[in-house]
Amino acid sequence: MNETSITQGPIGVFDSGFGGLSILREMRKVLPERDFLFLGDNARAPYGVRSFQLVYEFTLQAVKHLFAQGCPLVILACNTASAKALRSIQQRDLPLIDPTRRVLGVIRPTVERVGEISRTGHIGVVGTPGTIQSGSYDIEIHKLHPHFKVSGHACPMWVPLVEYRESDGPGADYFVRKDIDALMAQDAYIDTVILGCTHYPLLLDKIRRYTPAGVTVVAQGAIVAHSLEDYLRRHPDMAQRCTTGASCRYLTTDDPKRFAEMASVFTGEAVTASKAVLA
Ligand code: DGL
Repeated sequence: MNETSITQGPIGVFDSGFGGLSILREMRKVLPERDFLFLGDNARAPYGVRSFQLVYEFTLQAVKHLFAQGCPLVILACNTASAKALRSIQQRDLPLIDPTRRVLGVIRPTVERVGEISRTGHIGVVGTPGTIQSGSYDIEIHKLHPHFKVSGHACPMWVPLVEYRESDGPGADYFVRKDIDALMAQDAYIDTVILGCTHYPLLLDKIRRYTPAGVTVVAQGAIVAHSLEDYLRRHPDMAQRCTTGASCRYLTTDDPKRFAEMASVFTGEAVTASKAVLA
């Protein structure tokens, strides 16, 4: 057996910034026995306004770093990275780096649930400019439901509001209302709004407040967590390689002290972080 094929270690969870913590929190609830290693590329966030090439390069560096830390499986807990980098990494890079390891994203598992939720088949998606421009949600939804109508709207201000802890302030009300109105104006029959960015659950109360009654707002955390649980059930070899010490460690490319302070707000528990240098 090739030495790389027996790597055992924590499940790697990657996001450009703090948003992925909303996914990690749900994963830890569903899989409390697993070890997790979170990496936030806070020094280079936000990714949502960056080019395809840069998001791909940054994401590949992050995946390689998590592999070097021993992660056999990495979850891109970032829609922008899932939209712009996942396919290239899975198809082009993984076979060369280590074909036995896996990198999974958040878009496919989210889309798989949409058919159960929507009655009208009219879906709204909010996300970063990068995710919306990539058309990834439209493409994935249409693979499963060719007749669904998908309307996307980019919300470039929402990630900075979360990153700078303004999600409870009046500025957040202004932008959430404006963007939800713009989305709903595209199609009056939308009955399901997908939050296609892992930062957005931090704005959930305001998003619900400004979304018309009867419209279901879909946050990804629990969906992605259950999808990971199902994946491990279906892949016992990988399940065996993901270790079970119930630990959770944090890495950031920015200042670990600042990361720890902010992350504690997101996770509701004391966090310590270490510096990661990506190359
Ligand atoms: N949290 C990331 C996502 O899910 C994007 C944040 C960013 O723009 O960096 O798309």
